[in-house]
Amino acid sequence: MLDKLTVHMDKKPIYDIVFADDFNSLPELLAGQGIADKRVCIVTETTVAPLYLDIVKEQLKGKCKELISIIFKAGEENKNLDTVKYIYEELIKAHFDRKDMLVALGGGVTGDITGFAAATYLRGIDFIQIPTTLLSQVDSSIGGKTGVDFDSYKNMVGAFHMPKLVYINISTIRTLDNTQFISGMGEIIKHGLIKDEEYFNWMIANAEAIKERVPDKLLHMIKVSCNIKRMVVETDPTEKGERALLNFGHTLGHAIEKYMNFTMSHGACVGIGCILAAYISYKKNCIDMNQYHSIVEAFKTFGFDLLPADIDVNEIVRYTKNDKKMVGDSIKFILLHSIGNAYIDMNVSESDMIAALNESVSK
Ligand SMILES: NC(=O)c1ccc[n+]([C@@H]2O[C@H](COP(=O)([O-])OP(=O)(O)OC[C@H]3O[C@@H](n4cnc5c(N)ncnc54)[C@H](O)[C@@H]3O)[C@@H](O)[C@H]2O)c1
Ligand SMILES: [Zn+2]
Repeated sequence: MLDKLTVHMDKKPIYDIVFADDFNSLPELLAGQGIADKRVCIVTETTVAPLYLDIVKEQLKGKCKELISIIFKAGEENKNLDTVKYIYEELIKAHFDRKDMLVALGGGVTGDITGFAAATYLRGIDFIQIPTTLLSQVDSSIGGKTGVDFDSYKNMVGAFHMPKLVYINISTIRTLDNTQFISGMGEIIKHGLIKDEEYFNWMIANAEAIKERVPDKLLHMIKVSCNIKRMVVETDPTEKGERALLNFGHTLGHAIEKYMNFTMSHGACVGIGCILAAYISYKKNCIDMNQYHSIVEAFKTFGFDLLPADIDVNEIVRYTKNDKKMVGDSIKFILLHSIGNAYIDMNVSESDMIAALNESVSK
């Protein structure tokens, strides 16, 4: 029996998230997607290709009408329309039509680009996600948000386009470096904080095994996190309400990411953003001092760095103003009523953020 979750929309099943520790179930699952009559293009990048492209190709060889692959240069700086153009060109050359399919093999960058190319090529073709980073497994591969950066604007051009399948091979996490592992942990700890106190406590209790990437602990963690993301996107598929809770830690997290000139990973910045949002929650008498400290300790346990002491607090706050989460002059800030229970707060002021930043710099 395959280990899986099903994502629904309007109560209808839309796609499965399958959990495995190898790629062996791919042929059977893709046969179910009718690949025997389809051309299939695996889109991947220069870091992931040498690790996993051949294994995935081997699984699909002879199972589809035609199999091609496209490799673009790894890195966020290539998540742009030039890479999408390159994908369109290769698809046209290989005569891909509306029945054909793309496979995103890689992290969130690959998933976002491939999903966007699939959403727009011939007004939309099918695609599946094979996420290979912790962040993409628990976050970006689920929910159907696709897109690319434009000029200096992140995720400026995009579309909602649901994958036909998300295939998570947790063994790909073994080759991930520690920075990328911590980046994924930022979103995972966030999931516990916004929705599930028991899960948050489980992570703290199992921190050593998780850091050592013990497979059954990773599997449990990735599944619970995917389930949280699944529940949130099912309730609010196009980000009109509940999905905003996933932005916990992101208003200040994004501002720190920009302030640090993208030298820190997204999840590492989100981790700091979560600590700051927890401090504001504490100051607003939502969570108590002990809960605030247990949140700080959780991030420290998983190896998150705190902010350096010499940051320009006012500049970071200025950066929050460019956040897409502004409603008029107010910021849609996510705070915690308690651990496991987040809410939207429209009354977080600049001085609340400044106080949190001053409290959180490493002393
Ligand atoms: N669509 C969404 O809902 C959504 C949500 C969150 C983030 N995102 C996007 O996701 C992106 C970040 O995702 P990411 O952190 O996965 O970035 P990424 O795809 O750049 O991967 C991070 C790094 O890990 C490498 N890598 C990938 N898999 C590997 C493996 N198994 N072993 C070794 N190295 C591996 C990559 O080459 C890259 O250097 C951002 O562009 C962000 O905007 C999208
Ligand atoms: Zn994020």
